Amino acid sequence: MCGIVGYIGEKKAVPVLIGGLQKLEYRGYDSAGVAVFDQGVIEVRKFKGRLAVLEQHLQKESLNGSLGIGHTRWATHGEPSDVNSHPHTNCSGDIAVVHNGIIENYMQIKSMLIEKGYVFVSETDTEVLAHYIDFYYHGDLVEAVKQVLAKIRGSYAFAVISRREPDKMVCVRKENPLIVGAGVGENFIASDIPAILNHTRNIYLLNENELAVIEKEKITFFDEEGKEVKKDIFEVNWDVSAAEKGGYEHFMIKEINEQPKAVKDTMTSRVLEDADGIKLDKFSLTKEQLEKFNKIYIVACGTAFHAGMVGKYVIEKLAKITVEVDIASEFRYRDPIVDDKTLTIIISQSGETLDTLAALKEAKKKGSRILSIVNVVGSSIARESHDVLYTWAGPEIAVASTKAYTTQLIALYEIALYMAGLKGTMTAQEINAIKDEMLKLPKMVEDALKHKETLQKFATRNSNAKDVFFLGRGIDYAIAMEGSLKMKEISYVHSEAYAAGELKHGTIALIEQGTIVLAVLTQDELYEKMVSNVKEVKARGAFVFAIAKEGNHEVESVADYTMYIPKVADILAPVVAVIPLQLLAYYMAVEKGCDVDKPRNLAKSVTVE
Ligand code: AGP
Repeated sequence: MCGIVGYIGEKKAVPVLIGGLQKLEYRGYDSAGVAVFDQGVIEVRKFKGRLAVLEQHLQKESLNGSLGIGHTRWATHGEPSDVNSHPHTNCSGDIAVVHNGIIENYMQIKSMLIEKGYVFVSETDTEVLAHYIDFYYHGDLVEAVKQVLAKIRGSYAFAVISRREPDKMVCVRKENPLIVGAGVGENFIASDIPAILNHTRNIYLLNENELAVIEKEKITFFDEEGKEVKKDIFEVNWDVSAAEKGGYEHFMIKEINEQPKAVKDTMTSRVLEDADGIKLDKFSLTKEQLEKFNKIYIVACGTAFHAGMVGKYVIEKLAKITVEVDIASEFRYRDPIVDDKTLTIIISQSGETLDTLAALKEAKKKGSRILSIVNVVGSSIARESHDVLYTWAGPEIAVASTKAYTTQLIALYEIALYMAGLKGTMTAQEINAIKDEMLKLPKMVEDALKHKETLQKFATRNSNAKDVFFLGRGIDYAIAMEGSLKMKEISYVHSEAYAAGELKHGTIALIEQGTIVLAVLTQDELYEKMVSNVKEVKARGAFVFAIAKEGNHEVESVADYTMYIPKVADILAPVVAVIPLQLLAYYMAVEKGCDVDKPRNLAKSVTVE
């Protein structure tokens, strides 16, 4: 987690740092700080709380230097507090460090440094870096950082400045994001592109274990062996406004509303009306290569995992290949049966989720081919994969994932249809029929968004609900899980998702007078069964809000309220049915006065275990 920004140039560093940190608050927001080289010394200002607290302090007392690093924190080692906030310095205050990630062997290093007389003031692993760099510092910051890199273990991205070499910043990355922005007479570093997009579109993507020395007029890169490397500039072609709120009250509702476009964009050049089959960018397999795989593993976390659950249904149904879905943090530690006959599909919006990245590496080590579905171009997961299928959702800022989910589903349909075509499990006509339905999805999502007012009213009336249950069968169960996660994470209402047929094996005991049940009934084959399950909970006093497809009216006579979504093909229903669930969670959170875009205890990109 955590966000890093750095600046060196002619301008005052503080406004650049603050502007950048504002764009990175999604990475963590329990404290923030800056270190600026000003009139011969490094001035550090850091405070517990939101970035606004730091901003207020800096307004009262301006720092004028043109070299600085900034940080927004999501606490791992040590509670959120002023002293645990970054930047951290060595004892003399000559060296300042901001860090994202974890230094695993920091305890051993800390003991050694304490024995040598170093005094620690915080509980963080980061402070070790500042003192350790000091320990190796003999007039050459780059050399000292290289010495430290040879000794530390863990995953990190960090940036260092020194009072004695105010002409540079030094930064490195390992399993945590860090990019370098190239300007004219000024250069930048950041955890993510939006942080510096107001200043430059010319970006260098750091590879694993690369070190960069950033000067005003020069950027030098070194690989793991310390050899200088040349890198190509990556030009960002999306607009800065794409990462801003654009008139909406929250990023989440903006992103929910962006789904018709995001879904459409993710089909561009892949699902074409006038061409047979599916084109998957640079990903291609021969029939023989595909048949060599006896199993597909889909591995992801959170919402991306829920997309993976839909992926299992879809790939098994259309391409007839066995699919296992696993949570990345479980997969990586249980020695899964994966080899060169396994295709691993990794799903991640950020492309930086640490557990997902580690699971990818584990599968790769075991010989599996890796195909990832990623939203952030050039992210670690994208770069570690053999093949990447990007979702074109654009930047997703709200912690709650919405447009990333629907576009991940689109990518999974594309993969399933591609494989079905290759294996011959579907005829060209059957594939084209689903493609035609897919091309209608942007409009159907737009129609589903029209239920806003009803959902807002429902949320107003029920914002004091203690528990909400989400029920579904088959693919609807996967949607129920996503609806339930959204509800929990942003509105803090306890919720459970249940496979409707499983309810009577225990959980139905929790249903009492007035318990809210969200029943998802989009699957024609399972509709009757679901109606029976709705009757069961109604009989125990539940208040049932049903989501069904237009034309399937039977549930109306059983449920308390029925909301209709467009008549979408069963297999594609998750893309449309999830919309009311996202909106409901959103309006519940707004009604309860929750911090929708930055829910408590969460961060957008989970780059720690
Ligand atoms: C969902 O709303 C969450 N923000 C979370 O579950 C998220 O999907 C998960 O952390 C995975 O993130 P990723 O897609 O960036 O890997």
